[in-house]
Amino acid sequence: MNYQNAKVAETADLLKGRFAELTQKSDILKAVELRALYAEIPQLPAEQRASFGQEINALRAELQQMVDEAGDVEEALPPIDVTAPFDVNTPAAERPHLLPSETGSKHPLMTELETVLDIFYRMGFNAIESREIDDDFHMFGALNFPEGHPARDDYDTFMTTQTDANGHQFIAPAHTSTMQNRVLKKYIGNLEKGEPIACLIPGRVFRNEDLDARHEHTFYQLEGVYVGKGVHAGMLIATLKTFLQEYYGKELEVKTQPFYFPFTEPSFEFALSCPFCDKKGCNVCSYSGWIELLGCGMIHPNVLRQAGINPEEYTGFAWGCGLDRLVLMKYGIEDIRHFESAKLDFLRQFA
Ligand code: DAH
Repeated sequence: MNYQNAKVAETADLLKGRFAELTQKSDILKAVELRALYAEIPQLPAEQRASFGQEINALRAELQQMVDEAGDVEEALPPIDVTAPFDVNTPAAERPHLLPSETGSKHPLMTELETVLDIFYRMGFNAIESREIDDDFHMFGALNFPEGHPARDDYDTFMTTQTDANGHQFIAPAHTSTMQNRVLKKYIGNLEKGEPIACLIPGRVFRNEDLDARHEHTFYQLEGVYVGKGVHAGMLIATLKTFLQEYYGKELEVKTQPFYFPFTEPSFEFALSCPFCDKKGCNVCSYSGWIELLGCGMIHPNVLRQAGINPEEYTGFAWGCGLDRLVLMKYGIEDIRHFESAKLDFLRQFA
């Protein structure tokens, strides 16, 4: 396709050149350069807008066609072998070389978790670990998900066949928000003393996922809960921005957009400017310049009430952030499945 406008033609060449290198072909449609073209439309004299807009749309359509023709490369990624590194019946002499335990090392996620905790301790938070098995009440009921509500389907996870006293199966939690009710109740005394509840809840969570480079059935989340008098959404954004800037050691831009969670009102999806490329566009941010990182919002009055806190008197914010995601970005790790794969070659790089 020949584009009349020089800028569109130049962008077309650039993006087509990049296309070959992308593992995730659809990333091309999120390219910062493409969005920059759209952003130029309102700046143009009125009579040029229509033709410029049509050319960009044509370019987008051309790229879309290339993506469609390339097929779903996600499917085509070589699967990572997540089985045990060797059969336990293998005679000692034939076993692969393992690290002797005295020279073993901490898993990178745990090293990074310590860094994260250190930042939050300095911000006045305490920390409580979540659980690896929980019940229906903490997974849903305490979080304002009505019985049978479709939002429950977003948290498809593993369950036991054994049931609790109410006939509900036990659940491998799909998020660390299961701990909100416990933490709010445990620290309610802080509020009576005029102090806030400020708690970070790291934990392992589980999802029934189609696995690929970005989705794993087991991962870690960092839940944050902050409640006090006069707490507002500006504090939520400032807290997360401060944390992320400390963690990545640089100035970052953040933005929010409206979202839906039953346990927050309003709810937001929170994105940060890519710490790798500073919004220029790179592989880490799928060439969009931004990374959607976490869900957050102002704690729903029903969630506070469930824990015995008066929402007329106190307000709070909460968030849930994937730890694996933060670490992937920090080190430019290409596949989330490495973390749970027990691959020594991978782990040794962090020893
Ligand atoms: N639990 C949500 C999830 O895993 C993330 C989340 C959103 C946690 C909003 C929160 C929150 O605490 O307020 O999808």
